[in-house]
Amino acid sequence: MTKQAQLDELKKTIEQQQPCKDLAATATQLVFGSGNPDADIVFIGEAPGKNEDEKGLPFVGAAGKFLDEMLGSVNIKREDIYITNIVKYRPPNNRDPLPDEKAEFWPYLLKQLAIIQPKIVATLGRHSGQAFLKDLRISADHGHPKRIKIKRDGQEESLLILPLYHPAAALYDGSLRTTLIEDFQSVPKLLAEY
Ligand code: URA
Repeated sequence: MTKQAQLDELKKTIEQQQPCKDLAATATQLVFGSGNPDADIVFIGEAPGKNEDEKGLPFVGAAGKFLDEMLGSVNIKREDIYITNIVKYRPPNNRDPLPDEKAEFWPYLLKQLAIIQPKIVATLGRHSGQAFLKDLRISADHGHPKRIKIKRDGQEESLLILPLYHPAAALYDGSLRTTLIEDFQSVPKLLAEY
């Protein structure tokens, strides 16, 4: 089965198993993820916002536009990467995703990564970063890749995590913006190294 077919199947499984029923009830639709199933790098945000909820695609609003700009600055296109979120339904009024909601979607996210098998998992923001790196201090750890071991279905898997600031946080903060743009410059080198 192709990776795309496996991802399509995983999406159907989520729809059948109905994690986060309360969120599903207020959201328009599941925002599963999009991009290249053979990507070497997967970006993981927090949860869909209003635009994403309407379109059914991740990072299609202002933060997504900024992300595209940063990708462009290192000659990477959206079609080259895969992008998804920790929580795949929009939380009401864009509130932060709750610990239970992150926990419910976690096994599906790990399965999604197991299908794609990226070289690098770039987390966007604190929620996403701390899901993989419990002791993450984003102000100190951003831009520093870290290899971790993770248990999925009783099996140990290794992932290289690159913690980054969230583009939405950096959009209106000049110094964070510069930092995020600088951290992005390391992506091509990392991809070539691993
Ligand atoms: N912010 C996120 O964390 N994810 C999206 O998909 C859009 C904005």
